[in-house]
Amino acid sequence: MNRKIIIDCDPGQDDAVAILLALASPELDTLAITTVAGNIGLDRTTLNARALVELAGMTTPVHAGCPRPLVRPPIDAAHIHGASGINGATLKPPTRPVASSYAVDLIRDTLRSSAPGEVTLVAIGPLTNLACALVQAPEIAQRAREIVLMGGAIGLGNTTPAAEFNIYADPHAASVVFNAGAPVVMVPLDLTHQVLATARRVAAIRALGNEVGRQVAAILDAYPKDTHFGATGGPLHDPCAVAYVLWPELMRGKECRVDIETEGEHALGRTVVEWRRQKRPANARVLDTVDAETLFRRLTERLGRLP
Ligand code: BDR
Ligand code: CA
Repeated sequence: MNRKIIIDCDPGQDDAVAILLALASPELDTLAITTVAGNIGLDRTTLNARALVELAGMTTPVHAGCPRPLVRPPIDAAHIHGASGINGATLKPPTRPVASSYAVDLIRDTLRSSAPGEVTLVAIGPLTNLACALVQAPEIAQRAREIVLMGGAIGLGNTTPAAEFNIYADPHAASVVFNAGAPVVMVPLDLTHQVLATARRVAAIRALGNEVGRQVAAILDAYPKDTHFGATGGPLHDPCAVAYVLWPELMRGKECRVDIETEGEHALGRTVVEWRRQKRPANARVLDTVDAETLFRRLTERLGRLP
């Protein structure tokens, strides 16, 4: 049976690749895409998600969600992803309208009406929408099969020395999600920085020869290289969350206690992971190792299935 997922996202260059990977994968039934403010404002993340669905030749509904974080002032990452949010892409304006229901309602009601363990949430932006749904209906935490989220770090952050972007953008929402009692899988920077869009890998995607391959290669050409980790290509953060749902055997990690710093002056948005010494009950599975070569090979093959 296909695995039912909802993708909550802020496209976003790497979100774009994650969405296309999901839409190309026959094992996944992407029920809906929900959008949130993050890399760029909500209007733009929603427009981008709709354009990506049409690029993939699909009709997956796109529901707009929260335009700002719960407590903190909004931030964005336009300096990374460009003014459009998907630097490098030349997407046609979407023709299908945004779905009429609100993203938070869609998440809440889908989980409420599904069987326990039926629906997986794949969260690849700030966690505002998920937090709102969990506050409105705490019981949905038990109904999700998993919440697979790209966010946080065991070690260094990428937005501050302490914090990763998705968690830093809305630390209060992240705290709600990690403390909801849901089966959370955290895909942190420590893992995603192993999955680099090197020139060789981008060339393989371009060589697919289809429109999606051309668009993804152009996005990755324009994607900043993160030299802090001695990288040879941009880290493909968000596709790792979708890849975990598809191919968990490619990744390793362990159960840990994770707390979110919501008050700190220097460590705001830090994911404090009990990685070495586990003193308290775990609330997440934290991944740290990935077979990046196989992941890229499979990602490339999947992108070749799209128009
Ligand atoms: C995360 O932040 C965003 O800029 C990316 O889309 C990704 O979700 C990486 O820190
Ligand atoms: Ca993202």
